[in-house]
Amino acid sequence: MKKIMMANLKMNLNYDDMKNYKQVLESSGVEGLIICPSYLFLSDMKSDKYDLCSQNGYAIDKGAFTGEISFYQLSSLNIKYSLIGHSERRHVFKETDEDMNLKMQSCLKNNIIPVLCIGETKEERESNGTKEVLERQLNIALKDVSLTDIIIAYEPVWAIGTGLIPTMDEINDIHLHIKRVLKESLSINSKVLYGGSVNLSNISDITILGNVDGVLIGGASNDPNNLIAMYNKM
Ligand code: 13P
Repeated sequence: MKKIMMANLKMNLNYDDMKNYKQVLESSGVEGLIICPSYLFLSDMKSDKYDLCSQNGYAIDKGAFTGEISFYQLSSLNIKYSLIGHSERRHVFKETDEDMNLKMQSCLKNNIIPVLCIGETKEERESNGTKEVLERQLNIALKDVSLTDIIIAYEPVWAIGTGLIPTMDEINDIHLHIKRVLKESLSINSKVLYGGSVNLSNISDITILGNVDGVLIGGASNDPNNLIAMYNKM
């Protein structure tokens, strides 16, 4: 069975780019991808050839929160997945582990499958803090949340958009650790994706690893033809 491939388009493409993106994917014959466009394009990007994932969401259903978009609203468009706690949300927009917990609860309530992103900074890695940081992120985000359907994306902050990646042994070992923590402390079985500088040259080596259930791709997914080329190497 093919592993999971998610494309996080961040804030990179405009309306015309997205129209082309959809057309390329739909005519490619590739099915089962998960695409994360900007909120703005979610409706137009609906397709029976791939699934959609929001890049974020607000934990309160409705109210006076100008500029926010809630999981409640996303679920009214039947959006299947949402990223939660992407590194850019944590570091640029200062979202906390506690915010992630509220978002997880809201996803659960609104029938959206959360894709919880976790990962250590360069400093945390260099001080041997990686596993501890990941455990903290998981334990707080998932506290008192009884989710059965959830995906974890391990994205080392220092690997995002830098061209740097951990060694294959490190990736496999950290994914195993994440699965153990989920099972032993939280009784959750989850797929764990790797994200951070995945590209055409390294995707085969990463997706062949036994503990890697798929990939979350940023920059290399902006071109839909490159995404398809990567899919064909998984
Ligand atoms: P890059 O693939 O550009 O490193 O981005 C990874 C990412 O942040 C996906 O969510």
